[in-house]
Amino acid sequence: MKNVLIVSGHTNLQDDSFANKLILEDVAKALPNASYDYLDSQYPDFKIDVAAEQKKLETADIIVLQFPIFWYSMPSMMAKWMEDTFQHGWSHGTTGHALQGKKLLISFTTGASADMYVEGGIQMFPVATMMTRFEQIANLTGMVYEGYVFTGGVSYAGRKDSEQVAAMNAACHNHAKRLVARIEELAK
Ligand SMILES: Cc1cc2nc3c(=O)[nH]c(=O)nc-3n(C[C@H](O)[C@H](O)[C@H](O)COP(=O)(O)O)c2cc1C
Repeated sequence: MKNVLIVSGHTNLQDDSFANKLILEDVAKALPNASYDYLDSQYPDFKIDVAAEQKKLETADIIVLQFPIFWYSMPSMMAKWMEDTFQHGWSHGTTGHALQGKKLLISFTTGASADMYVEGGIQMFPVATMMTRFEQIANLTGMVYEGYVFTGGVSYAGRKDSEQVAAMNAACHNHAKRLVARIEELAK
């Protein structure tokens, strides 16, 4: 089995997450041998242990970034992790090859529903547009971009209504299933 590293970029998974928490719980049950890197619990002060994070990445064959979309991007927790850890001379630059050949899979959720993410809609662009940065990050660092698993419509507003909670619950379980299937496919 290939080494799978799942990095959670939520800023407060225990107290403020519905979707990412549920997805990660399901995935952890299905893939107990994967490594899980919960950034918020390790680095509540945003002080990243760069050497430790680089080591985790070096050991991985498949890197999964799991996060909610905040302002059309990854949350600050994950951005800080990447800014500190992906150093010139380590991940990129003429001597930086640490991530070369590793598979990169993105797994993310949005509050806005999938049908809002269309050209000319309220969200203006398809969700794939938000993934272009990850494709380029993979390109620059020599990783193989393996696309994304996405679930929309998991909003804060929906947490108050029992019907919406049931729908979000089902959507997150479904997301976890799709994510596990994709990881297993990549790990073959
Ligand atoms: C600071 C902040 C910014 C957000 N920005 C967006 C956004 O740009 N687009 C969107 O569809 N949802 C946005 N959302 C909604 C989150 O994506 C949504 O709540 C999250 O995916 C649900 O996952 P969780 O239950 O694990 O927190 C934002 C939420 C917060 C708190």
